[in-house]
Order: sequence, then C-alpha cells, then structure tokens
Amino acid sequence: MKNIVITGGAGFIGSHVVRLFVNKYPQYNIINLDKLTYAGNLANLKDIEDKPNYKFVKMDICDFDAFYQLMQDEQIDGIIHLAAESHVDRSIKDPFTFARTNVMGTLSLLQAAKLYWESLPEKYEGKRFYHISTDEVYGALEMTNPEGIKPPFTTKASSGEHHLAYGKDFFYETTKYNPHSPYSASKASSDHFVRAFHDTYGMPTIVTNCSNNYGPYQFPEKLIPLFINNIRHRKPLPVYGKGENVRDWLYVVDHARAIDTIFHNGTIAETYNIGGFNEWKNIDIIKTVIATVDRLLGRPEGADLDLITYVTDRLGHDARYAIDSTKLQKELGWEPSLQFEEGIEKTVKWYLDNEEWLDNVTSGDYQSYYENMYKGR
Ligand code: NAD
Ligand code: TYD
Repeated sequence: MKNIVITGGAGFIGSHVVRLFVNKYPQYNIINLDKLTYAGNLANLKDIEDKPNYKFVKMDICDFDAFYQLMQDEQIDGIIHLAAESHVDRSIKDPFTFARTNVMGTLSLLQAAKLYWESLPEKYEGKRFYHISTDEVYGALEMTNPEGIKPPFTTKASSGEHHLAYGKDFFYETTKYNPHSPYSASKASSDHFVRAFHDTYGMPTIVTNCSNNYGPYQFPEKLIPLFINNIRHRKPLPVYGKGENVRDWLYVVDHARAIDTIFHNGTIAETYNIGGFNEWKNIDIIKTVIATVDRLLGRPEGADLDLITYVTDRLGHDARYAIDSTKLQKELGWEPSLQFEEGIEKTVKWYLDNEEWLDNVTSGDYQSYYENMYKGR
C-alpha cells in the first residue's frame, strides 16, 4: 500500500492516527479527509502539516462523487475510516445527523471504494478498508459487583489476570450487537454495512471496536476534557445520575498504535476489540481528575470537590462497558503502553499546558484556522 486516506483525521483520535502514520511511514502518502465539523480542528495537526507525505482535503464523506474522484486521482489503496459524529448526548438531541454521517457517509465511502477498486486490473489485491468502531454497539453490561475490585488493574491480557472489576462479563468480538443510543445504533449500522461489503463483494475489510478513549486533543464536550476545563474555571461539574456508570478507558495514543498494528497485520474480514482492561466508575475518575488538576495548579487538596453537581441522568444511559481485547493482544502482540494513573497525569498536564488550544476550542475561534491556513496559498 502507498496511498492512504484517513477520514476524520482532524478530530480527536484521527489526529493521533494521522500523526503516527505521517511520522512512521514516510513512504506512504497520507491524505487526511475531513469535513471540519465543530469536532474537526486542523490545529490538532500543526506539528505535521508541512510534511511532504501529508495532505489535507476538506470533504464530506457523504459526497459520493467527490470521494470517487479522489479515489481515482490519488489511486487510493487503503482507507482508515474514523470520520463520524461521536457524541452520545448530541445523538439524543439530533439523531438524523448521526444516521446521515455515520450510516450514509460510510456507505458512500464503501460504494466509491468498490467501484474504483473493481475497475483496476488487480481488483482488491493489496487494498484495505479499515472501519473504526466503538464498544458501544454491544449495548451495556450488568453491574454485578458494584463495589468493584480496586485498581490498579493489569493491562496485560497475556498474564491471564482479567479483572472483572464491576461485573462478571466482558464484550467479546462474538457478543451480539445491542445498541441503545442513536450514536451506537448508527455505528452498529455502519459496521454491518462494512461487513456486508466483504461478504457480498469480497472487499478486504476490517472492523475494530474500541473502548472509551482519553488524552490530548479531545473536544471538551466529552467527560474528561470537559471536566478539566470546568475545574480550571471553577465551573460546576455535571455528573449524570449517581456517577456510578462504568467505562473502560484507553489512552488515545495506544488506540492509534493498535490501529497501526491491525491495519498492517490484521486478518481481512476479522473483528478486533481494543481496550486496556481498565474499568472505572465515573465518580472515581472525576475525583482523580479533580485531585490531579488541583495538585498541578497548586490548589489545596480537595479544593474543587465542591464543584461536583449531580444532574438528571442521560436518557438510556448504559450502565457498564468492559472490553476483552485478548484476541488483539495474543494474535497481534499489541498491549497498552500506559497505566491509567500515568495516562491521566499526562492528559491533565497536556490540557493545562495547552490552555490556548482549550480556549480556542471553547470560544469557537479554531474554526477560522483552516481559512487562515490557506489564505494566500
Ligand atoms: P471526533 O468527534 O473527535 O472527530 C470526528 C471527526 O470526523 C472530526 O474531525 C469531524 O470534522 C469529522 N467528520 C464528522 N462528520 C464528517 C463528515 N460528514 N465528513 C467528513 N468528516 C466528518 O471523534 P473521535 O472521538 O476522534 O472518534 C473517531 C472515531 O472513533 C469515530 O468513528 C468514533 O465512533 C470512534 N470511536 C471513538 C471513541 C472515543 O472514545 N472517542 C471510542 C471508540 C471508537
Ligand atoms: P462521554 O465522555 O460522553 O463518553 P460515552 O458516553 O461515549 O461513554 O461520557 C463518559 C461517561 O461520563 C458517561 O457515562 C456519561 C458521563 N458524563 C457525565 O456524567 N457528565 C458529563 O457532562 C458528560 C459529558 C459525561
């Protein structure tokens, strides 16, 4: 493979994937295709925007004609598809946008890739369509052990120490899809389309389902960056319900590393779950984030605990997510590089060191970055 499109590369996870590929593979041409919605921010890629193997194309994944033309012009061999509407709360308010981008947009990419690749003499040989999905498509797991087993949990599946921290079961690659939110329903639908293109036309596809990501460049509408920013400004921290919901957290760079491993060494038509065996109750994360921000800002211990504000629960709020990533760890040798405590420390430090990024994103100023960047070129 040589010419690779990464969709959604100006977003949170996509920017880490683009950075990794551009730096690690100078022999590839990396095209970052992004519509630059509110979640897309080219400032996330400032450090690599002038590299010779990187190009940005502003495009909507629903624009079939434009994407088909791009496939031909750039002779695309590989697609790593991350572009999506990604926030559950927005999907509850506006499900149509999620169906349009996540379902129709993915279908549009698949159909354009099919037409182009089938027109080549080698057809699908050496080609790959890699679709990035979420563990939320599996629905919610039961909380059979609400007290949990105390961290630190192991991050090495190979050690055989799986911590069923808050329940008896995990999401496996074989777990039946059972999405609850409009977001997860739209992602589930797109996953089905990707697999259907393999089963029907023989397209070389791969799907991965990853747990919650955290780290630098995440839009501050998601729990961790929102709360870091609010603590900074001493604004209330809206905890949904009792704060007892459990999520399984992975440092975003480890997700990008997994995507690299799977894109190159994964088996066609397979599904891989990605996660670090790292379950946390929301309220425990929130207290950890408060303690870390306060320490780094030199505020007295516990100074900001009073910002915790319990609010009405999210509609259809999934109780617990927990990913079993043994297959990826055993078959492809990937494992997370960081323990959660280290990852949170790095993350909080990054947001506090990059206040300008946070302020631009929260004020909306980042949306002029693209226009300014291309002015006069
Ligand atoms: P994000 O919201 O930060 O970024 C999404 C990107 O897609 C933005 O740059 C946006 O401009 C772009 N985009 C949106 N609609 C588009 C369209 N119609 N055409 C072209 N570009 C468009 O999302 P993220 O958190 O980085 O998630 C990336 C992918 O990973 C998504 O597919 C998401 O479902 C999946 N995922 C996310 C998580 C997580 O914890 N954030 C976990 C597992 C899987
Ligand atoms: P979020 O970051 O939106 O990710 P997801 O819904 O995809 O898991 O939320 C993580 C958890 O934090 C989820 O259980 C909802 C909860 N949450 C709050 O309690 N308050 C908030 O303001 C937000 C954004 C999330």
